[in-house]
Amino acid sequence: MGKLAIEDIRKDFPILETEVFGKKLVYLDNAATTQKPVQVLKVLEEYYERYNSNVHRGVHSLSQQATAAYENARHTVAAFINAASSDEVIFTKGTTDGINLVASSFGKKFLHQGDSILISAMEHHSNIVPWQMICEEKGATLKVIPMDENGVLKMELLPELLDESVKLLSFTYVSNSLGTINPARELIRQAHAKNIPVLMDVAQAIQHMPLDVQELDVDFISFSGHKLYGPTGIGVLYGKEKWLNALPPYQGGGDMIKTVTFEKTIYNALPYKFEAGTPDISGAIGLGAAIAYVNSIGLDVIAEAEHELLTYALAKLAEVEGIQFIGKAEERASVISFLIEGVHPYDLGELLDKQGIAVRTGHHCTEPVMDFFGIPGTCRASFAFYNTTDEVDLLVAGIKRAAAILI
Ligand SMILES: Cc1ncc(COP(=O)(O)O)c(C=O)c1O
Repeated sequence: MGKLAIEDIRKDFPILETEVFGKKLVYLDNAATTQKPVQVLKVLEEYYERYNSNVHRGVHSLSQQATAAYENARHTVAAFINAASSDEVIFTKGTTDGINLVASSFGKKFLHQGDSILISAMEHHSNIVPWQMICEEKGATLKVIPMDENGVLKMELLPELLDESVKLLSFTYVSNSLGTINPARELIRQAHAKNIPVLMDVAQAIQHMPLDVQELDVDFISFSGHKLYGPTGIGVLYGKEKWLNALPPYQGGGDMIKTVTFEKTIYNALPYKFEAGTPDISGAIGLGAAIAYVNSIGLDVIAEAEHELLTYALAKLAEVEGIQFIGKAEERASVISFLIEGVHPYDLGELLDKQGIAVRTGHHCTEPVMDFFGIPGTCRASFAFYNTTDEVDLLVAGIKRAAAILI
């Protein structure tokens, strides 16, 4: 395992040279979306310049080339998460799309009046609302695993919550607003002991640590390409083959069919059964390139570098007067939510922006988390492996400068 050559790495991301209000960009909003390396940008350009074509339909050379590149990306994803087969990799629009797919298809077939779906207290809206919608339709209930003041799930309540009514457990591996890494293995173990399938929202995990779906024995995972240094508009739903075969299609249209008559349609095999219509071809190819890029560095190297940054940032930020951290889990990813006493997070975000520092402010699509802590929102700094300790120092100095103006 090598150390990160940070100066070389940063050259791969041209946007890091951008200036905002005359200051060099300090990009600390990686939980919202990550920046893209030239290795990804080049592949996108190459696709549109040289072989742009539709997939799975043409006999002509360009279409075959596009199809091969698109399917190659699927193999890259399958290897990255260690899926047993690339048929278990469905290309989606993103995390939200993948969760909606499962909620809709699983709900349609397996959810009945009086059943329930179990989620956690720290879910992104995209792992709440799709379940609420299908529960309402089916007369089922949405149940929630509570958390404590540190932003840690109350695991002692899990055995009781996993009662006979629960048909599926869906939780986020890493909280986007608290940084908490949830105990995935234990959650899955307890659910499986009661034959309850598990979906993991890995939108904030896939870019930070190695993830092996077979080792975890998870039934579904959903993530977005754009949080993994890939393009927007592309995502992945992984599902165990037995589950994907058992679920009805999500959408109807081209590519997801074997034969169509006005009387009856026979659906296509996996993975195409869940990919209706022209997919995001360049997005998938770009995601494949992003994964190849991440692999070339190594997720274990990335994890170590980000952990060092997190430790440094937590220590430096703790020195800021009036700071309050929201989320204090021991196990956490490089996401830090905080408030400064007497300062509205929105005002702080604006003044940081004037200094070229990009952070996110607000509820981070986790309103129930904000309600739990009794706050309207937080300021969130989220780090990627291309960030530096110098950038952390700039953030801390920027917060102090902003606080001096605002308080
Ligand atoms: C934990 C988590 N889940 C789901 C999502 C939704 O991802 P997308 O908007 O790419 O579908 C996000 C995005 O911030 C997230 O952080």
